[in-house]
Amino acid sequence: MCGIVGYIGPRQAGHLLLDGLRRLEYRGYDSAGIALLNGGGLEVIKTSGKLSNLEKALVGRVPSGTLGIAHTRWATHGAPTEINAHPHTDQDGNIAVIHNGIIENATAIRTALVNIGHTFESDTDTEVLAHLIGALFQGDLEEAVAAALKEVDGAYGIAVISAQQPDVLVAARKGSPLIVGVGTDEWFVASDASPLLEHTRSVVYLDDGEMVVLTRDGYRVRDLQVTEIQKPVSQIEWDLAKIERGGFEHFMLKEIFEQPESLRNTLRGHLLDDEGTARLLGLNLTDDELKRIDRIVITACGTSWHSSLIGEYMIEELARVPVEVEYASEFRYRNPVIDERTLVIGISQSGETADTLAAIREAKARGARTLGLVNVVGSTIAREVEGGTYLHAGPEIGVASTKAFTSQIAALALFTLRLARLKDMSILQGRQFIQALRELPDKVQQILDRAPDVERLAEEFLDSSNVLYLGRGVNFPVALEGALKLKEISYIHAEGYPAAEMKHGPIALIDENMPVVFIAPKDGVHSKIVSNIEEVKARGGKVIALVNEGDAEIERLADKTFPIPDTVDLLTPILTSLPLQLFAYYVAVRRGCNVDQPRNLAKSVTVE
Ligand code: G6P
Repeated sequence: MCGIVGYIGPRQAGHLLLDGLRRLEYRGYDSAGIALLNGGGLEVIKTSGKLSNLEKALVGRVPSGTLGIAHTRWATHGAPTEINAHPHTDQDGNIAVIHNGIIENATAIRTALVNIGHTFESDTDTEVLAHLIGALFQGDLEEAVAAALKEVDGAYGIAVISAQQPDVLVAARKGSPLIVGVGTDEWFVASDASPLLEHTRSVVYLDDGEMVVLTRDGYRVRDLQVTEIQKPVSQIEWDLAKIERGGFEHFMLKEIFEQPESLRNTLRGHLLDDEGTARLLGLNLTDDELKRIDRIVITACGTSWHSSLIGEYMIEELARVPVEVEYASEFRYRNPVIDERTLVIGISQSGETADTLAAIREAKARGARTLGLVNVVGSTIAREVEGGTYLHAGPEIGVASTKAFTSQIAALALFTLRLARLKDMSILQGRQFIQALRELPDKVQQILDRAPDVERLAEEFLDSSNVLYLGRGVNFPVALEGALKLKEISYIHAEGYPAAEMKHGPIALIDENMPVVFIAPKDGVHSKIVSNIEEVKARGGKVIALVNEGDAEIERLADKTFPIPDTVDLLTPILTSLPLQLFAYYVAVRRGCNVDQPRNLAKSVTVE
């Protein structure tokens, strides 16, 4: 979603900001722009479409200036046109604003400003904010921004500069992420760490309601009143190589292939073989507190919602605690029944998804204990929850989540193990589960080694217009995730269903042109899924099945099979999801799609 980057320091800001925008491209966007203060005033250049359009517009004329802001926009208010692109300026053209979020009372403010003579060019809420700051400006940008933000409802991460104060950059956040990069005699603001890494590893995470004022001498954090806030400086551990493609054609492929390593990193330090349990110190819950939990709600969005469903199967099966999985966007608005014995777990790769964050806040306000399974260290959800564990999957840049998904399942398995061992799971069962977890990264590698087989399979199904994914039990969420992967990057319509539910609707779609992907490891529901395969074959459908090696029964029935190494039933999703990620990837690449930045999608959805 919208990307913000700002700079003040001794260097020319133009190219530096463009490089920053390139690092933010992965978030998803549809227009871009830059504003610089070049001594002679404010210069704003913006274009619709990809960053390459902005680069073309700037050929030979990157404005000079050592202070500037730049933005990639993911349209919310108004089409993704050049006029609606950020930065937006105030009535006099002196103040430039970039913004991530939604100003909910923009219409009312706009009307009030029109009544005092303001005219607007764009359809955006951001232009309204720029005009409001301009209207309140009395020589001090910091005060004008603070005054304007007191008037607005909604969510924002903003960065603002003014031609009348060429040595000041003001930024603020409420609901949309913003961090400050602290360099040597230079300072940055950005939506996330990726544009900062080549300049500094030292960052300050702003919290909601905070403003930062960057000058040529340093930075100050304050609230919207006048109170200064002392903030710790954190160090980012990710290095530049981790956010680059490292020889792979796409980030998505790189991240798929990183999964043996990312899984090892998720599990590292958490497995206690002797005691047959998991150590999760970050939960901040004592054994007694954990035992008292009588209900768990897991809340998330997108792919993280799918891993949550797998968590539901695992926790209920092994720890026997009832679990509900809720879309965060539904949970937060539906008066959920929770109390202090309910544990609410938020799962998020980015740690910034607006709905998941709001759901966690809602749960806290209602007295629930909250935990987070989050990938991005220092992200807002990670800081909001009372405890949890980081996934340590490393930066995920491809919009379609892959390694974060399998790491989420692994983290859920660790949590399940910990809880189950406090309940009825024996030490022996615990040790067996640990052994299975330890073996997973090598088994993942075995699947990745067969990627060329998946590539050939993808070749055959390139021209499908619909694909159905069917699974049962813990592999039903894998069917949902497989379908999501395919549709989000290849634009082929795909649906995931519990295999038996197929008879209640999707079966009507099946004909000889319809590929049906069955996720069918030899687990407790194997014989049932064989019957479902028969039903599809009887109607001429083309069956692709993920099976355990040597599954002669399904090999006879299916048109194509792909072998999956054995593991314990509840951990099969970590293996079965792999070929589905690869399948979606190869289909999309062959169809000429931009797999890392699929149309209309955002990596980190920071508006509700
Ligand atoms: C977006 C991304 C998905 C992701 C979802 C939830 O839709 O494109 O890949 O699963 O947000 O994001 P989160 O960062 O909270 O896991």
